[in-house]
Amino acid sequence: PVFRATTTAPVNIAVIKYWGKRDTTLNLPTNSSLSVTLSQKSLRTLTTASCSPSYPTEDTLNLNGRPQEIQSSKRTLACISSLRTLRKSLEDADSSLPKLSSYPLRIVSENNFPTAAGLASSAAGFAALVRAVADLYQLPQSPRELSRIARQGSGSACRSLMGGYVAWRTGELADGTDSLAEEVAPASHWPEMRAIVLVVSAEKKDVSSTEGMQTTVATSELFAQRVSSVVPERMTAIEEAIRDKDFPKFAEITMRDSNTFHATCLDSWPPIFYMNDVSRAAVRLVHDINNAVGRTVAAYTYDAGPNSVIYYEEKDTELVAGTIKSILGATAGGWDGPFYEPLANVT
Ligand code: DP6
Repeated sequence: PVFRATTTAPVNIAVIKYWGKRDTTLNLPTNSSLSVTLSQKSLRTLTTASCSPSYPTEDTLNLNGRPQEIQSSKRTLACISSLRTLRKSLEDADSSLPKLSSYPLRIVSENNFPTAAGLASSAAGFAALVRAVADLYQLPQSPRELSRIARQGSGSACRSLMGGYVAWRTGELADGTDSLAEEVAPASHWPEMRAIVLVVSAEKKDVSSTEGMQTTVATSELFAQRVSSVVPERMTAIEEAIRDKDFPKFAEITMRDSNTFHATCLDSWPPIFYMNDVSRAAVRLVHDINNAVGRTVAAYTYDAGPNSVIYYEEKDTELVAGTIKSILGATAGGWDGPFYEPLANVT
């Protein structure tokens, strides 16, 4: 027999950025972070996990049609081994269950967007992997408990197991058991929220997040302040903004946190650059739109790459998405599209 489960996981885009690890093996962050889960209509990973006693002995992983070196990916191995251990304990407690934990696994995963282009593909990827294997193994663990496993695959992945507004609490314990994701508000709390993704470049990024954040932790002088006071204050403030559906407040914190994160990258030694001229043109345009309208209607944020994600409310779609498309779309030699327009929060 072949046992099988298929699932999808969404992309999440942080508004308070995770940048820095206090433990690289357990993948524990130096600060809490908060993200918005995007709609799976535009951006998602689709993963099928199967297992069978008749499969060849090794676990395999295929990503976007290409076999991956699973044995050299400590992170993938860590996720699989944690999930297997949970399945094994179910089988030990109930001898009538099929011994799935002893069968080789086959994982097949596909993104509908460019991988490693600063579009949080690792987040959706590891979240889908963990969810698919957990479903295959019929594990009773909650998304919050599974976030502990997904975190070991990629930090940001722990936030893609839930919808809506999700916080990843840094936690205090050395073993990381309290470093978990939790839903701050469901998608339905703020259904007017929208996001547009401007794909400035779909190429692979120069410096991976993992490597970049290690350089920042080791060398940036601004970083300590970000971790000790800037982020904790912003976490509290943005959670209030979300609770009150206060878009201008949400937007200012989001833009400032993106800017602080990229400032610590520039302050790293040697400096790290993720944004480019087109990214900066989009930043200026968002400020221009907000100034022209006389209220804050749009907020940009950038991950470890040049692509912009711009948040706005549904009523301002024409003003924000319309203006950005017509102006940046007409800029010669810069932006080469496409635009993704996921409705934030609708899964
Ligand atoms: C800038 O989650 O990709 O997108 O844990 O090393 O896999 P690893 O890092 P990753 O880093 C994401 C960094 C970020 C900010 C964020 O998503 O919070």
